[in-house]
Amino acid sequence: MRRDGQGRPALAVRATAAVTVLATAVLAATTAGCTRDGPGSRRGATPTPAPAVSRDFRPGATGLGDPYFADHGNGGYDVASYDLKLRYNPGTDRLDGTATVTATATADLSRFNLDFERLTVMAVTVDGAPAEWSWAQGELTVTPARGLPAGGQFRVEVTYGGVPQAFGRPGLSGTGFLHTADGALALGEPESATAWFPANDHPQDKATYAIAVTVPAGLTAVSNGVPEGSATEAGWTTFRWAERVPMASYLATLAIGRFRVTEGVHRGKPVYTAVATSLPAGAADRAMARTTEVADFLEGRFGPYPFEAYGGVVHNERRIGFALETQSRPIYSPAFFDRGGDGTWVVAHELAHQWFGDSVSVRHWKDIWLNEGFATYAQWLWTEHQGASTVQETFDREYESASAEVWQTPPGNPGASRMFSGSVYRRGAMTLHALRRAVGDEAFFRTLQTWAAERRNGNGEVADFIALAERVSGRPLRPLFDAWLFGTTRPARP
Ligand code: ARG
Ligand code: ZN
Repeated sequence: MRRDGQGRPALAVRATAAVTVLATAVLAATTAGCTRDGPGSRRGATPTPAPAVSRDFRPGATGLGDPYFADHGNGGYDVASYDLKLRYNPGTDRLDGTATVTATATADLSRFNLDFERLTVMAVTVDGAPAEWSWAQGELTVTPARGLPAGGQFRVEVTYGGVPQAFGRPGLSGTGFLHTADGALALGEPESATAWFPANDHPQDKATYAIAVTVPAGLTAVSNGVPEGSATEAGWTTFRWAERVPMASYLATLAIGRFRVTEGVHRGKPVYTAVATSLPAGAADRAMARTTEVADFLEGRFGPYPFEAYGGVVHNERRIGFALETQSRPIYSPAFFDRGGDGTWVVAHELAHQWFGDSVSVRHWKDIWLNEGFATYAQWLWTEHQGASTVQETFDREYESASAEVWQTPPGNPGASRMFSGSVYRRGAMTLHALRRAVGDEAFFRTLQTWAAERRNGNGEVADFIALAERVSGRPLRPLFDAWLFGTTRPARP
């Protein structure tokens, strides 16, 4: 699902395109001399003479042009929805699934790619007809029986299975799919989806999700969005989840195991939190119980909470030491809740990402400051709200204690191996405070709210944010951002 430059869906454009779709679909089918069994097809009717038009069907690009991750995502189509039907057996560590991907071609495609790692593909169909496919190095190439005309919708179904794997990327601890003591966890940034389903794996192509996960009775399977109930049959329970607000693929998650589940409703939206039963009842449960309180606090600063559900999951898998802002239901390492303190700072961080990262996503991974700098600043705001250090005190401490590496690494374009470095988080948050000092509280928070509102369900890049900050404040801010985001020495104290 792609939007126009800002977060608005390109509605007017789409409506026009839809009309063209039918026309071109029929045209393409007749040109190819065969009958297309879809909207506008004329199966059984008298053959129409082929119009004198030929289309040039070509392979879709194998990447989306991300400067850090050239092979992430694919060109030539735009996914609207993923419908995942999965079965996981912790006894064998085997995952079996069917992924139905509904997409619109954005070019005349002879074939296209989906990103997918390591699991074995059993069958691929396009619009119900068997398609040819091949797999190499994380790319599943699908060649449909006939070309897919630009503007037309198509449906790919991939049947697959195997023992899913974690990625071992340098600098990124345990991401992908991990088999845990009592189940499994699928999470990771900038990638993780491709360890458990085929995807157009880049934040530029957001889509809605319907996820049904079948696990042995007694276990719980948690995912994103609205819980749609569970049903047990012959010793297996199927849990259904629906994320109806467009989501980047790395934000899709699965947490399977034994959990203390708490369900409720907040402002008319479902709340679903889960804490591993192997953790003693305590800080993690208390922090999860404050999820909606933290979300309301952030809503007061950033504008309306962007999703249809609230929640969080605390697992007990010590190999994962980070938390992730998985959409509407962040996943937390237990490590955050046994360090003393109440651990709510990490809840503030991951919930801030619901606005900055999830609803407004990076255009390219080099824009990661728009996620991590903002979520870290939200942590500082929450800490002040709790009556501990003020934001200014936190800034002063960070400014004085930051390492040389922080000042050498530009958070505005840190490099793929430093996406999650101290510069992006700490100097990134200091950058926002420097902006606030320069433009004042009113313009500062109006800038954050405008960013979240204008780009809701869309993408943005660092240059767009700088332009917005200048527009809202009416002040030239290039020198400030150049020093704080792109310089390699410590900027002057604001
Ligand atoms: N976005 C995550 C956070 O909010 C960071 C994920 C880091 N990923 C990793 N593999 N270490 O902190
Ligand atoms: Zn973060």
